Amino acid sequence: MAVYDWMFSTMWIIESTRNDNKVDVYRKTIWHEISGNVLELGPGFAGSLKFLAHATTSDGSFYVDPDVIQSYTALEPNPFMYPRLQNNAEVNGFAVDYDRLSCVGCNVQDTDLPKAGLVPFKIVRGTLDDPENIPKAILEQAPFDSILTSFSLCTVRHPETALKNIQQLLKPGGSFYFIEHVRQPARDDPTVVEDNGVNVELWGRIQDWITPVWKLIGHGCHVNRKSGLTVASIGGWKTVDYKSVRPVIDLQSRIMPLSFGKAIKAND
Ligand SMILES: C[S@@+](CC[C@H](N)C(=O)[O-])C[C@H]1O[C@@H](n2cnc3c(N)ncnc32)[C@H](O)[C@@H]1O
Repeated sequence: MAVYDWMFSTMWIIESTRNDNKVDVYRKTIWHEISGNVLELGPGFAGSLKFLAHATTSDGSFYVDPDVIQSYTALEPNPFMYPRLQNNAEVNGFAVDYDRLSCVGCNVQDTDLPKAGLVPFKIVRGTLDDPENIPKAILEQAPFDSILTSFSLCTVRHPETALKNIQQLLKPGGSFYFIEHVRQPARDDPTVVEDNGVNVELWGRIQDWITPVWKLIGHGCHVNRKSGLTVASIGGWKTVDYKSVRPVIDLQSRIMPLSFGKAIKAND
């Protein structure tokens, strides 16, 4: 619903900065590996772009490195995110344009910035929630070398469906990168690399209790999804490699432990 989209995008102006401050330290560890023909699902304002491989030109400009990233497709359902998404992509040296078919009525404008020599960045409206309804622009741009999600699997309608679509859109051997907040991993979960002595059972239950309300105020966000485990559970990967952390920076961090890593699609 448009009002709901507008409310979330307005709230995200403040919340995304707070979130980036907490999670950038983890994004930084793997985002520089992202390469080739790239798709991001649910980029919001594209807080991830600053950690892609960049090249600094002789005049000190900071441009995404065209030798590493050949093209970037941003699949975002909420058009109120687009002005900041576009601006952030341009700051990172991309040449932005919109998919006119899916963005009909989005009230957006291409800028007249010079585009020659810059990495193309296409904004497409939609989701991967329904395998029968993947935007044409995404299918035309597939297969992708890299696909990423950053705090989007908490909101997609069915994580398994979105993940299967992600896998389908990857090249054999292509990589899916993710950073997601998750339900407190079990105490003996081998992926946990930062524990901080949180009472896992209690906070896990609190996450389950608050999810029905959180979903309403957080635009469908579930704070009790086990996204790392779900990535692994769909099969079809050559490897799945992720870490989990339980930061205790503030109250919100206790209901938002993180899992981040990558899964490589099997070759056949
Ligand atoms: C919490 S924000 C994260 C934004 C950004 N990825 C970041 O890390 O800052 C969640 C994003 O997912 C988008 N989103 C909502 N529903 C979605 C869906 N069904 N499929 C894909 N993205 C969705 C939202 O519009 C929003 O941009």
